[in-house]
Order: sequence, then C-alpha cells, then structure tokens
Amino acid sequence: MSNCAPIGVFDSGFGGLTAVRELRRILPGENIVYFGDNARIPYGDKSAETIIKYACQDAAFLLSLGVKAILVACGTVSSVAIDVLKEKISVPVVGVIEPAAKRALALSKKGMIGVLGTKATVKSGSYERFIRTLDGKVSTVGVACPLLVPLVENGYVSENNQITRLAVREYIEPIEKSGCDCIILGCTHYPLLERVFKAEWAEGELINTGREAAVALSDILKASDALSPDGSRGGLKLYSSDSAENFIDAAAMYLGEAIKDFERVDILSYGL
Ligand code: DGL
Repeated sequence: MSNCAPIGVFDSGFGGLTAVRELRRILPGENIVYFGDNARIPYGDKSAETIIKYACQDAAFLLSLGVKAILVACGTVSSVAIDVLKEKISVPVVGVIEPAAKRALALSKKGMIGVLGTKATVKSGSYERFIRTLDGKVSTVGVACPLLVPLVENGYVSENNQITRLAVREYIEPIEKSGCDCIILGCTHYPLLERVFKAEWAEGELINTGREAAVALSDILKASDALSPDGSRGGLKLYSSDSAENFIDAAAMYLGEAIKDFERVDILSYGL
C-alpha cells in the first residue's frame, strides 16, 4: 500500500468531521476521503444487526477508494461493529472508544466519568467495559441522548439555541448529580455542540471522541512509517449517501473549510 494512499473516515453523518478536522490539523499532508451516511442516519436507534450491515457497506466503499487505514469516526459503529470490521479488513481500523476512554482516565481526578452516547452505544456498554479493563476502581454513568444527533444534523448547534440547551441540560443532569468530573462525548456528533456543553457544564472536562481517535490513528501511521511524504497540503474529498444540497454547506461549517470536492454515493451497492 502506498504511503500516498488516502486515509478513509466514515460516520453516519456529520459527526465524523470532528475527526477529519483534527486529522487535517495534525497531519496536513495526508489525503483524506470521508463518507457520511446522511441518507440513513441515525444509526444509534437501529439494531446491532443493521448497524453492522451499514458499517460493512461504509467500510467497503472506502476500501474501493484504496485507503491505507480506516478511522471509524462513529461511536455507535465503534461500539457495535468494530470487531467485525477488524476481522474482515486488512488495513488498520481505528475506532473512537479506546482513545477516548484513555483520555478520560487521564483527565478524571475523581475517577467518576460520564458517558453520553446514542442508545446503541450506551446499551452496548462499550466505554464502560474498556474503562474497567484499564482501571477497575473507576465508576461510570452512561446516558443515552437520542435528541442530540437530529439537532446537530439540522444545524441547531449554537449555545444561544434554547431547545438544544434544554436537551443538553436534561442529559447531563444525572451525570452532574453523580459527581462526575469528566464527560466522554461518546458520539462524534456531540463535540459539534461543544459550546452548548460548555455553557451548561463549565466545571468539568469534555472528551472529544473524534479528536482522540484522530490522534490515535496518527500515532499508528507514524509508528508503521505509513505517513504521506512531506510536501503539499493533502487532498480532501467528501462523499455522502445524501444530496450535495443536504450536505455541502453544513459540512463546510462543521469542518471549518470550504468543500471543493464532493460526490454522492449509492452505498447500497457496496458490501464486505
Ligand atoms: N456520530 C454517530 C455516533 O458517534 C452518530 C450516531 C447516529 O447515527 O445515531 O454514534
């Protein structure tokens, strides 16, 4: 596999752009291809069987582009389907759970960590399980937040938006009451609401799962000498299962850069 081959990143929608944003910052020379399955979002309310099927299609599409590694920038897929993906795929596959959990353990002074995620993520117990393998004394409080992904997908991300403020308050309440000093934003969409979380919960640490996973992938590529040779700015191409009209403007806002290259994908025609 050539070092110039792109890194593939996917999510059910816009959330994985939090990982792309970080990759663009820390590995500016890398070529990146991103797939957002906006036509089928949300994944977090679906059965494990469906999430695995979608994840295999998404990864197969990225493999068809010749990627050298895949960043699963979706908390739900990382929780439910990562073992299946790792078994079927020969390039490195990195999910968000382990890097985010490690960061939370490093930052929490009280050993009380809140985990916010989709229904499927919280039901899977993925973050809690991994945290326990690293430190059995740490307690976790998991809360499913089904309203947050639709708010992000519809652009309701401002700290001045009272609907979003209320939803975030509702979800962090049990975590706050339990005395947690750190919250894992366990779905990659949630860091896009960082300003809202900070407005509602100024006192604790917030873990951006997309960012942590990007750093973990960067470490793996460096360790295996698989980085693109230094030189010009790497390319970025975005793909979605939904239309350009429903994708480009919001993606540019979340990514913090103009989208120059976009293509719609018929994701149903891919599979592992
Ligand atoms: N970004 C996805 C995640 O991390 C969104 C979940 C969904 O599609 O429901 O879980």
